Amino acid sequence: MFILSKFVLSHLVVANSLQSYTPPCHDDEISALLQFKQSFVINMSASSYEGAYPKISSWKSNNNCCSWDGIECDEETHHVIGLASCLYGSINSNNTIFHLVHLESLNLADNHFDFSQIPHTIRNFPKLRYLNLYFSMLSGQVPSEV
Ligand SMILES: *[C@@H]1O[C@H](CO)[C@@H](O)[C@H](O)[C@H]1NC(C)=O
Ligand SMILES: *[C@@H]1O[C@H](CO)[C@@H](O)[C@H](O)[C@H]1NC(C)=O
Repeated sequence: MFILSKFVLSHLVVANSLQSYTPPCHDDEISALLQFKQSFVINMSASSYEGAYPKISSWKSNNNCCSWDGIECDEETHHVIGLASCLYGSINSNNTIFHLVHLESLNLADNHFDFSQIPHTIRNFPKLRYLNLYFSMLSGQVPSEV
């Protein structure tokens, strides 16, 4: 019984510390994400999902981007972006989102990128394992490397 409760307790502690631990993010990543934000307007009709809200509106400078809505970071700051919907505007290969070379997951679904060509720099993520371009109003072909 003692061993069991000790086991349960240590699991609770681990779960709790995982939840509250937020690794820091780097200044250049903050600035890349804020520039990404600035390259679009928030437009509710750019989203086709009824429950969508612009997570990106909570992105502010001078704080840890790992705690922003839609961003997750692991301990080695391999970022996961489950990006907000409701973005409207074109995206090209110069977009600062492509500076985030540690991205493991990128979700650009449910936005209106005004039929931009899929930027070729989408190849710039060596660690990318998940990419979602569903309903993003992009055109052209996904680079074969992806
Ligand atoms: C909002 O997005 C729609 C496309 O869903 C577009 O037609 C409209 O021009 C956009 N409005 C603004 C103010 O950007
Ligand atoms: C990207 O930036 C470079 C240099 O700033 C510029 O020459 C080029 O036209 C830009 N490309 C696009 C697609 O906007």
